[in-house]
Amino acid sequence: MKHKLILIGCGGMAKTHAARMETLEDRVEVAATVDIDLKKAQAVSDLLPNHPPVFTDYHDALELGDVVLQVLPHHLHASCTIDCLDAGKHVLAEKPLANSKEECLAMMEAAKRNKKVLMTAYCMRFHPILREMRRLIREKVYGECFQLSIWTEQLTIREDAAWLHDRKLLGGGQLFSHGCHYIDLMLWMLGKPVKGTHCGSNKCTPWMDREGTSNVCLEFASGAMGYHFGTWGARGTRMGYSFQAHCEKGLLDFKLSENKLILRGKIAEHVPGVPEDCKEYVLMDMTNAPAKHTVEEMRHFLDCVDTRATPETSPEQSLAGLEVIWELYKAEDENRLADFRNISMPF
Ligand SMILES: NC(=O)c1ccc[n+]([C@@H]2O[C@H](COP(=O)([O-])OP(=O)(O)OC[C@H]3O[C@@H](n4cnc5c(N)ncnc54)[C@H](O)[C@@H]3O)[C@@H](O)[C@H]2O)c1
Repeated sequence: MKHKLILIGCGGMAKTHAARMETLEDRVEVAATVDIDLKKAQAVSDLLPNHPPVFTDYHDALELGDVVLQVLPHHLHASCTIDCLDAGKHVLAEKPLANSKEECLAMMEAAKRNKKVLMTAYCMRFHPILREMRRLIREKVYGECFQLSIWTEQLTIREDAAWLHDRKLLGGGQLFSHGCHYIDLMLWMLGKPVKGTHCGSNKCTPWMDREGTSNVCLEFASGAMGYHFGTWGARGTRMGYSFQAHCEKGLLDFKLSENKLILRGKIAEHVPGVPEDCKEYVLMDMTNAPAKHTVEEMRHFLDCVDTRATPETSPEQSLAGLEVIWELYKAEDENRLADFRNISMPF
């Protein structure tokens, strides 16, 4: 069955989704674009091959479709998603699921009540190289992973989206808004964390109400360590978006801008810097592939709608990642280590 999709919220991320919709024409057609700003709804409609009708109130558009892509500011995620589920639509909801545990639970309850699919749009989970990295880690192909590090460095100042700077509307700071992708990836790759710390600051990102730069350190039940550094204040970058997993037999190394998974091995003992006999093996090369795998993400959502399978990025898994972030923030405010032992981990 070809699905009819209502696209709600036509800002920056909606354009990324819309630009790749043509690839999915066998599965889905956008039946309406919605934004409180009609010009934005029109601009996204213009990107689409069929130029669907535009609306300023999503309630008026819902009857045109059976599935919804919700791409709204975070404080609106819960109310809009619940309205759509109650109207009988399946919803692919942009990350993070919502700004509080109560809202997340209400969204999950609405999906259950209406027997509809609710999936979080964690597009990084659909990146083929990250999927392979996870398989290599979980199957211990290069031995145990003992350190997973993720860096994201970018400059994010959004004059056109003030909600992104406001801790109440955003739900927190850089970690909650963007880092939620990478906390989710760490749980997905390494399992249950037991304790951790967050130190964040808005130094040199004064436009951010909470932190614009974030450092997270996690210890997992396996004994592995996780580290995430993210900033929205980078004026230059070498790391860009980088992922490194140190395993017993080598380093799995992935830089998003280069789109290659490299195994670095055979390092000499006790030699500082890069040793002469350090070998590189390209395990996967996806040069020219997009950074955001929104097509695979949408295909998976539609497969779940067709088969009623539970999405890989289920709301339960999303909530677990957000609970880790909320406990990290709380512990930071209380000047103590975060304790994750009571968070259930459906991974
Ligand atoms: N997965 C990713 O890589 C990624 C990247 C960027 C953003 N996002 C997510 O996408 C979502 C939107 O972010 P963005 O950067 O596109 O924000 P944005 O501010 O650019 O877009 C949000 C749009 O929603 C519209 N809007 C606000 N209230 C509305 C309402 N009641 N009804 C209809 N439209 C309304 C605004 O006018 C705006 O055009 C967020 O959840 C964000 O975290 C995801």
